[in-house]
Amino acid sequence: MKLPVPAAATLVFWSTAVATDNLLTADRLEADIRTEELQNVLWNLNHIARNNGGNRAFGEPGFKASLDFVLERAQTRFHREIDTFVQPFNHTYDKTLKIKVTGPAGEDVFVVSPMYNPATPLPGGVTAKLVDTPVDDEKGSGCFAEQWEGVDATGKLALVKRGVCAVSDKLKLAKAHGALGVILYNQEPGTAIAMPTLGAENIGQLVPVAIIPLEVGESWKTSLKAGKDVTVTLLVDAVSETRETWNIIAETKEGDPDKVIMLGAHLDSVQQGPGINDDGTGTAALLEIMTSVQKYAGFPHKIRFAWWGAEESGLVGSLYYTSHLSEAEADKIKYYFNYDMIGSPQPEFDIASNNNSGIGPQLLEEYLVTQGKNVSHGGFGTGSDFVGFIELGIPSTALHTGAGAPYDACYHQACDDLDNIHWEAFTVNAKAAARALAKLAFSLEGVPPRQKTSPNLRTRRGVVQSFQKWAAVAKEATHGHTCSHKTQKLRV
Ligand SMILES: *[C@@H]1O[C@H](CO)[C@@H](O)[C@H](O)[C@H]1NC(C)=O
Ligand SMILES: *[C@@H]1O[C@H](CO)[C@@H](O)[C@H](O)[C@H]1NC(C)=O
Ligand SMILES: *[C@@H]1O[C@H](CO)[C@@H](O)[C@H](O)[C@H]1NC(C)=O
Ligand SMILES: [Zn+2]
Repeated sequence: MKLPVPAAATLVFWSTAVATDNLLTADRLEADIRTEELQNVLWNLNHIARNNGGNRAFGEPGFKASLDFVLERAQTRFHREIDTFVQPFNHTYDKTLKIKVTGPAGEDVFVVSPMYNPATPLPGGVTAKLVDTPVDDEKGSGCFAEQWEGVDATGKLALVKRGVCAVSDKLKLAKAHGALGVILYNQEPGTAIAMPTLGAENIGQLVPVAIIPLEVGESWKTSLKAGKDVTVTLLVDAVSETRETWNIIAETKEGDPDKVIMLGAHLDSVQQGPGINDDGTGTAALLEIMTSVQKYAGFPHKIRFAWWGAEESGLVGSLYYTSHLSEAEADKIKYYFNYDMIGSPQPEFDIASNNNSGIGPQLLEEYLVTQGKNVSHGGFGTGSDFVGFIELGIPSTALHTGAGAPYDACYHQACDDLDNIHWEAFTVNAKAAARALAKLAFSLEGVPPRQKTSPNLRTRRGVVQSFQKWAAVAKEATHGHTCSHKTQKLRV
């Protein structure tokens, strides 16, 4: 809900009260961003996760508590200077409650469940013979219909190797060939198995799956090749239901509503951990920048902050926001900065942009270089909340410090906590974000106009229609947040 606008007389009082010692400047914002305050925010987010089952994920109480934490500042403390709007939306919540694979000798096997894994019959699960499928590490195993020809999967559990195509593609084909479920063995040895998502859009189209270590899969494959029967039990218990969640949009009362500079970070974590680097860092940077900005006046452009919901489920909150903007509203957003993972313990300083980013990357780079950082540049992947803005042709830039080892070995894990932060890098990045914002809050020099030549997006109807396409992008994004982040890096 939008807070009531103060009476005109009050507005006059506020604007005449503006003195030069109150003027927003890049130096003042930079000086206001302090490591101790950023630490304080992350301490609070970590505390919230610890008190709420270890995470701040979509559909979980830790997300609601994170939302309340941001609102306590934006709405309660700063309501005189900041208008806050909580935007609700719905998405499919999913959680695997139990997963178990029992091998032919009755042994329990190490197993990982993807997001949106369908349940098996309960309480016993499915006990069936395994059927082998051919391995093709080049094109992917079980990725194409012809790879299933001659595989008699009916009434069996299919043994399939992971890799190349989406896990959901393999599961669709398994289902089409009569399999009761899939035992998917990892491509890499060991039990450090990355958890994929099958995508909310595939609900109802897939068979249950368990991801097991390569070593176990290969030993069962060997037995099958030798003509032996391998009978296993797969049990998946899962909950899947629509839950409401929220974006927070907070903007300065100060500034021209037709010229908006926007900063975004996602407020949700994955279910596996507290999400302190991903994306407590972006969340905290925006909170501290807002805390600084609301002290000042005299800036001609409006400053808008977004804390997105359900990013980890496929950029859902930011795609909801961007797809519901009218043409006129989209035109008013002159620039979008995305801050997702800006305090990785072994940081790179990667700036993602495209040929419509204008001066944004340069503003960030200039400051980072003065702080002795090596800056790399890449294109946008599909891994974070800039996607909807780029689709609308809004000039955008994203800064991030790397996901996965060596940058952040705790990426999407329980250890993404207060020990998983490079405080100096984080502080420098937050200051860079503050300075870039200060610049654009005064001048749009070097900012290109919104690129409306994109074929899908000339009209509001076009935007809404393209939500389908975005859903496909979101699906790709959820297949590997890691992969997308890595893609960005490799393009450097
Ligand atoms: C979310 O779903 C609930 C229950 O179906 C519905 O009442 C509500 O209007 C939905 N909210 C949005 C924003 O679509
Ligand atoms: C920008 O990139 C797009 C897509 O990659 C391309 O179609 C367009 O021609 C480019 N524009 C300029 C000015 O380089
Ligand atoms: C920056 O990169 C150069 C070349 O790769 C390297 O020699 C230098 O040590 C790096 N500096 C920092 C601060 O990482
Ligand atoms: Zn993230």
